[in-house]
Amino acid sequence: MGTSTTTLPGGTWTLGDLAVTRFGYGAMQLAGPGVMGPPADRDGALAVLREVADLGITHIDTADAYGPVITNELIRAALHPYPQGLVIATKVGAVRDAQGGWPVARRPEDVRKAVHDNLDHLGLDVLDLVNLRVGDVAGRREEPIAEAFETLAELQQHGLIRHLGMSNATPAQIAEAQSIAPIVCVQNHYNLAHREDDELIDRLAEQGIAYVPYFPLGGFTPLQSATLEAVAARLGAAPMGVALAWLLQRSPNILLIPGTSSVAHLRENIAGAGLTLSPDDLAELDTIGR
Ligand SMILES: NC(=O)c1ccc[n+]([C@@H]2O[C@H](COP(=O)([O-])OP(=O)(O)OC[C@H]3O[C@@H](n4cnc5c(N)ncnc54)[C@H](OP(=O)(O)O)[C@@H]3O)[C@@H](O)[C@H]2O)c1
Repeated sequence: MGTSTTTLPGGTWTLGDLAVTRFGYGAMQLAGPGVMGPPADRDGALAVLREVADLGITHIDTADAYGPVITNELIRAALHPYPQGLVIATKVGAVRDAQGGWPVARRPEDVRKAVHDNLDHLGLDVLDLVNLRVGDVAGRREEPIAEAFETLAELQQHGLIRHLGMSNATPAQIAEAQSIAPIVCVQNHYNLAHREDDELIDRLAEQGIAYVPYFPLGGFTPLQSATLEAVAARLGAAPMGVALAWLLQRSPNILLIPGTSSVAHLRENIAGAGLTLSPDDLAELDTIGR
């Protein structure tokens, strides 16, 4: 873990050899409805991405499956040539069909194509971090991941990828990946109300591996909780901000990638994530997902 050199809440973390702000940004929601097609407000989407960089955020999460290709093109249009120190994390393992579905694509040839496509679309020679997204839209599924992860490890050895991670993965799949090559992060579904990975987070923290919760604010069904609202009201803060502050205080290896298509929400979320929650606040919030 790195020391804090940023004014953003949470300070920094080191992914392999790459320092990132623990307050990052998830670009998925910049695409059109259902994560398909362009955004209604392209200039607004570009403005959010420029604000992300201007605020000093150095971790952006994306995937070619978003749009498809839309968020990667927006990131490139807004930020290329990329600011020094910006880490763009992407994912492979699923594509999109014409109906907006997310079919699995994890044969070696799919994985190779996805890595080369991400490099092209982002305008990069090397991808900082590639997560292998396993399971499917229905959730996690115990199934072998070796062939796909070995392909990513080969691409890493060929110099196309700096660091590897796993996403939507079970503990057994994470261990299988680690038997092939080191991973620097796990990106799974987790938030105040969805606590399946509590034990996993602690185990990864012991290993110095980052845990990156997706849907930190509930994703397509935003977090709704009377307890969260009560704590937020007591603190004079927005509930979403409190949910992010809770994640930052939950474990030092948690990196935030909340999504938003609004500069105002981005700023509000940074302010909220910087709240210091008291032991009583934490204990009360802890009851939500238990
Ligand atoms: N690995 C995977 O399988 C996987 C799956 C899903 C997502 N992800 C990644 O995780 C990132 C985060 O997930 P997510 O963006 O889907 O969900 P999220 O961060 O949990 O929530 C985003 C939603 O919350 C709303 N929001 C944000 N700030 C708000 C505020 N202050 N007040 C009210 N509403 C607010 C946003 O709407 P506005 O636009 O109106 O702000 C947006 O609809 C994604 O961007 C993506 O990079 C990964």
